Amino acid sequence: EKGGYEHFMLKEIFEQPKSILDSMRGRMIAENDHLMMAGVREFENKFQNADRIIIVACGTSWHAGLVAEYLFEDLARIPVEVEYASEFRYRNPIITEKDIVIAISQSGETADTLAALELAKSKGATIFGVCNVVGSSIARATDAGAYTHAGPEIGVASTKAFTAQVTVLTLIAMIIGKKRGTLETTKLRQLIAEMESIPSKVEKALQLNEQIIGISEVYKDATNFLYLGRGYNFPVALEGALKLKEISYIHAEGYPAAEMKHGPIALIDEQMPVVVIATKDSSYEKIVSNVQEVRARKGKVIAVVTEGDTTIPAMADHVIEIPETSEHLVPLLSVIPLQLLSYHIAVMRGCNVDQPRNLAKSVTVE
Ligand code: F6R
Repeated sequence: EKGGYEHFMLKEIFEQPKSILDSMRGRMIAENDHLMMAGVREFENKFQNADRIIIVACGTSWHAGLVAEYLFEDLARIPVEVEYASEFRYRNPIITEKDIVIAISQSGETADTLAALELAKSKGATIFGVCNVVGSSIARATDAGAYTHAGPEIGVASTKAFTAQVTVLTLIAMIIGKKRGTLETTKLRQLIAEMESIPSKVEKALQLNEQIIGISEVYKDATNFLYLGRGYNFPVALEGALKLKEISYIHAEGYPAAEMKHGPIALIDEQMPVVVIATKDSSYEKIVSNVQEVRARKGKVIAVVTEGDTTIPAMADHVIEIPETSEHLVPLLSVIPLQLLSYHIAVMRGCNVDQPRNLAKSVTVE
């Protein structure tokens, strides 16, 4: 059942080239920039005219929502708010009939997410679901939706569901961007072509496994970790930190790299591993200076960089190279080494990675 892998989590990490492909299969054709998703088509006019998109989710699904915020605003030029379902539902939020609420949930059973969308529904908003489990409560409560085709996720720590969510949300952002005329055809074609190359690039990123085992050996006894990223890699920093804390029980925090100097920089000393996701994108130059700030305080830098980069590698203690891609799609690649790092550290610490203490696969209580 684990397909020869020691744990479901590792199997699911390694399934990602396929699960990402399954989540986009039949939904796009590069030659004629064709994109199709039945659930989106049904509400195409609503999406086109939406004043705002509100995304509600919890945990890892909330991180996928943050990636979607960058995508929707950049490609489709619709304002987006990303809400923790548990906060949104209890604060008397302003919701109108022109809002589209997207609920993201792997299990489709998360109590707070379900309640948040029921609330939005009662105020007349259009409810769209991005769920993995077919026929789940959230999927049934929505007006329309798009399933992620990640297949069953057994490990409590979400891995392939996250990349499937990001894949589907990227396609939705492209469809709406095309419809609204905010995403020009040449750029759309490039993105679709790049999207098609993602499964093989994920495959390549998975070959980092051996190297990451080595890095895990070095830091397995650390008591704290900091994860930094900017732009599309900021949600990835949050996700990397969540993965590490939930399965290895090491305290970890994810931060937008520029926020470091507003507090967390005080934590940095020679004991502090800092994972910096610093791929070649529009914020690259900025993150180079953040890495310098960490170095100046003797922090240990584990850098995730784009293949061929020479600047960051000259400053980092460990360099993890991932294939180059469009910055819109980079989370699909940059999250892979972070999943592997948390997995190996947890295994080395003797933790039960598939069923971490105190956690359940679906949180059906509030
Ligand atoms: C993290 C994790 C949790 C879930 C969260 C939402 O690895 O598993 O944070 O992401 O409980 O669950 P779903 O997506 O099922 O609503």
